[in-house]
Amino acid sequence: MRFSFFFGTFLGWATWTAAVPLEHTKRQSCANGPTARNCWGDFSIDDDMTNTWPDTGVTRSYSFDVGLATLAPDGVEKVMMVVNGQYPGPTIEANWGDSVQVEVCNNLFQNGTSIHFHGVRHLNTNHADGAVSQTECPIAPGDCHTYRFKATQHGSSWYHSHYSLQYGDGLLGAIVIHGPTTANWDIDLGPLLITDHYHESVFDLADEPLTSLIGIPPVAVNGLMNGKNAYLTGTGSRAEFTFTPGKKHLLRLVNTGSEMIFRFAVDQHRMTVVAMDFIPIQPFETDTLLIAIGQRYDVIIEADQSPDVAYWARGVPMTSCFAINLMSTDIRAIVRYESDTPVTGDPTSTSWLMLDTCADEDLSNLVPHITHSVGPSALTQNFNAVLLPSQGDNYAVRWRVGGSEPYRPPKNNPVVKQVIDTAAVNLTADFNPTDLTSLAPSSWVYLIVESLAPLPHPLHLHGHDTYVLARGTGPYVELLTSLELESPPRRDTFNLPQSGYVVLAFQTDNPGSWLLHCHIQWHIHQGFALTLVEGSPSSIQGVYGSGEDAEMRRVCQNWGSSGLETTD
Ligand code: C2O
Repeated sequence: MRFSFFFGTFLGWATWTAAVPLEHTKRQSCANGPTARNCWGDFSIDDDMTNTWPDTGVTRSYSFDVGLATLAPDGVEKVMMVVNGQYPGPTIEANWGDSVQVEVCNNLFQNGTSIHFHGVRHLNTNHADGAVSQTECPIAPGDCHTYRFKATQHGSSWYHSHYSLQYGDGLLGAIVIHGPTTANWDIDLGPLLITDHYHESVFDLADEPLTSLIGIPPVAVNGLMNGKNAYLTGTGSRAEFTFTPGKKHLLRLVNTGSEMIFRFAVDQHRMTVVAMDFIPIQPFETDTLLIAIGQRYDVIIEADQSPDVAYWARGVPMTSCFAINLMSTDIRAIVRYESDTPVTGDPTSTSWLMLDTCADEDLSNLVPHITHSVGPSALTQNFNAVLLPSQGDNYAVRWRVGGSEPYRPPKNNPVVKQVIDTAAVNLTADFNPTDLTSLAPSSWVYLIVESLAPLPHPLHLHGHDTYVLARGTGPYVELLTSLELESPPRRDTFNLPQSGYVVLAFQTDNPGSWLLHCHIQWHIHQGFALTLVEGSPSSIQGVYGSGEDAEMRRVCQNWGSSGLETTD
């Protein structure tokens, strides 16, 4: 059976061809198209990608050359760290069920690097997670390393360096994995990456949050949409999108920022939200949408307004939880309608009412299309996140999340190497480790994370979707908190509310070492992360096999010979 489908205009379209899934005789085939976006050949939106995915036999290969480039995203020049000389980097594009392989060569002089595929589950491919200190040593200058994984999920995401603060200087790009959706659309406009932007290197700013006594992060001077924006009277320009009158447009929103939470909207247009992170949801309509760092929303926008004027798309930084620079409030792109006499010039449209809040969307809106129930916990752990005076270094403050030390592990001795070498978990306290290796496969782990500091924290768990059982403000009180176990939202990035708590659950079904961390770069840099070692040491060893094990050791060997720093 062959099927064809149409994704509309898309950057990089020319090099991309539709895959043909393998035959599955037991299934009814159904072609994906504008009136049947729930279909996907022999698969559909009703297949639970936790345990079902196509096997297309197709591999999408990418070569990433990581290096420095002087670019001017908003008209102001900056020396950036980028993939293949461009910002954002090339979009990784695949079909659901394809294999992906990305060769990363490091052409930075004085820096290691790595690439993490945010939100990708990496089922039994922990070695492709790109998390320095967890699954690999940094790739040394002059060295190359290839990540290989299968796209068992579909939807939108991004990849970014997971070496120190590098992605804040540009080392990132979008991921699009084509698959079915929970509502129909006509044209895929591709990713819209929204970020805060710093004119200085984030490495020059990095010590600010560590040396200021209250840990206040540096303030972004601007923001970007798909790597573009205006700035003062500079030469920068805004990203533009073209709507076809009467058509429904799919837009893949991603917050790739270092600190800010944005509220996104297109003036005068409502959106239908169809996915959060890699999870299809029951569609809901809204006029604005709050997006924290690392979160994604796929939205459908119908071009149902006058084609004779242009409209602003806005990413408004939420100021009720972060300090901002006035310029950074002008983060916009332009939407124009296709026409024989297109309107030029800036839009004059007025904004929707932009509520300034820092909490995730209402949980009642975030209902997965396929819900799961959560089993009783085999282990429940509490993590209190506190900002403390730092000890034993020049920094003033650090975050500590449970444990006895902030997360600040060496770069030259990744967790999996230690676990494989010793067949045990004997990590030093600077890994902030939680040992789950003795739990039976597919046990449920509950994590209660709370912080009384008045800052939200977009928490991201690698290698899993996380079920959000409860969230609230104030201290967590077990007797007063009821847990949603029947059909909780699940996703890979969710906000810990300001001065509040979240109760999370995940299943130990993916052997390896995985990070849970705040995605505010300054906070992870200050120690806001913890290590979860999952699966027995022998099952972790099994995932690496001999090939990936040897490759990990080779990368570490070269990193060791580079003589570069081993801690942040
Ligand atoms: Cu988006 Cu640990 O990363």
